[in-house]
Amino acid sequence: MRISYRAHGGAQDYWQRRWDDVAVDSGSINLDRYPGRFAEHALKLARPAGPVLEAGCGAGRVLRHYHERGVEIIGLDFIASVLAAIHREDARIPLAAGDITNLPFPNETFSAVLAFGLYHGLEAGLDEAMADTRRVIKTGGVLCASMRLDNLQNRMTDRLAGTSASSERLRFHKLNLTTAEFKALATRAGFEVETVQYVENMSFLYKFPALRHASQRVFRENEARGKGYRFNLTGNILQRGAMAIAPAQMANLAVITARAI
Ligand SMILES: C[S@@+](CC[C@H](N)C(=O)[O-])C[C@H]1O[C@@H](n2cnc3c(N)ncnc32)[C@H](O)[C@@H]1O
Repeated sequence: MRISYRAHGGAQDYWQRRWDDVAVDSGSINLDRYPGRFAEHALKLARPAGPVLEAGCGAGRVLRHYHERGVEIIGLDFIASVLAAIHREDARIPLAAGDITNLPFPNETFSAVLAFGLYHGLEAGLDEAMADTRRVIKTGGVLCASMRLDNLQNRMTDRLAGTSASSERLRFHKLNLTTAEFKALATRAGFEVETVQYVENMSFLYKFPALRHASQRVFRENEARGKGYRFNLTGNILQRGAMAIAPAQMANLAVITARAI
């Protein structure tokens, strides 16, 4: 496991500022890309029937997509203001303020939990968070979660962001786990891992505007979050080539789908 450090005021401060700067997402997501592709797969596997939790729902792209399509889904986040902003757009969306390490739900409530980009933000309590996630999923239900990888891609991303683990001004930013560590974390909490897939969500190559798709050369976060981070031809050749050669090293994230046993 490797830890990334950045110059901000800690996890809550980072997400508060991030969501203060971004408009609420629409429910329009690309189901061929992360995270839509993985959410779709997980919800098809989810048994027994029951509601779905999106843990760490943020600005609501996944939550709104499924709510608008009639799925019984609730969003949870520890940033109350982003939940209030979602409710200003649509007050009927079920939301809960809370922390992933101490979920405000009874045991065995959900048929599936979606948790994209959440667990790697925990400076402490990773095992406790995974155990509490298991507690609220019905036995046989599904967890679909992504984790920042301890690999070359994220080392390069951190280097470009000027991150250095030795500077005292920097604060905890993200955990980076190997695939084996991520699988062991889920197994310890009472899951059987069914699949692990490597995902290039926002590659370090995307930091170079010359490699981005023309429609995203000027970066608009909500659009990129909805459609996926898109490259032009050169960017695609570089990124796809790198992913074909060494997916475990060139992906940002690993996504696991795991069954509660
Ligand atoms: C990478 S964002 C993902 C947002 C959303 N799932 C998506 O895919 O667009 C991670 C989210 O987790 C939330 N979060 C981080 N730590 C949390 C915690 N300990 N408890 C609850 N939510 C947390 C953040 O506020 C943020 O909204």
